[in-house]
Amino acid sequence: MKKVYLVGAGPGDPGLLTIKGMECLRKADVVVYDRLVHPSIVGHARPDAETIYVGKASSDHTMRQEDINRLLVEKALQGKTVVRLKGGDPFIFGRGGEEAEELATEGVEFEIVPGISSAVAVPAYAGIPVTHRGLCSTLGIVTGHEDPSKTSSSIKWDKVATGIDTIVFLMGVENLPNIVSELVANGRNSSTPIAVIRWVTRPEQETITGTL
Ligand SMILES: C[S@@+](CC[C@H](N)C(=O)[O-])C[C@H]1O[C@@H](n2cnc3c(N)ncnc32)[C@H](O)[C@@H]1O
Repeated sequence: MKKVYLVGAGPGDPGLLTIKGMECLRKADVVVYDRLVHPSIVGHARPDAETIYVGKASSDHTMRQEDINRLLVEKALQGKTVVRLKGGDPFIFGRGGEEAEELATEGVEFEIVPGISSAVAVPAYAGIPVTHRGLCSTLGIVTGHEDPSKTSSSIKWDKVATGIDTIVFLMGVENLPNIVSELVANGRNSSTPIAVIRWVTRPEQETITGTL
């Protein structure tokens, strides 16, 4: 049995992959990769490596998470060195925790190779420091993907709205009206400056600024 590396590929630009992540790719027999991973990062794999796309858009799941978990275990049990390549950092809204749990349960050796998360890289590329002396001392990273029809939210909106200076929402576009109304209803000043940022590190990168 070989090892599985859960590798963060960074926020898009292939230059933001870590050296350790690249080294893992070069020795991999199998690379299992996501939608937001730049193709040239997958290109660091050996020509004879097997590459498997399991990308997920919010409405289009190529492979279910449970099947991805099984795939990692099966490939490792076949004696293959596996790289599970994920956008940003594997443990920030990347479901890397679930994959690690499955590997641990099945007794498969694994290692986490952190990546540069979009949670900090995206604001940075838009010129926004997420902390700034004298302006903000606390930073929160929140999922923007909670279903608004859920009977009870696992986000403590009252605390998020008033207890954190800079709040970064990932996967927030579809739920933007709900996010804004929850923040305002729970006490965030509607004059709070906001930025909506997409496609960071790509030519299509775009930032829209305004207030809540
Ligand atoms: C499923 S989450 C995964 C986050 C990832 N694990 C990380 O640490 O960056 C994907 C979300 O990250 C954000 N994201 C990732 N890459 C981005 C980029 N290049 N530009 C803007 N947002 C990005 C978007 O909100 C997207 O919906």
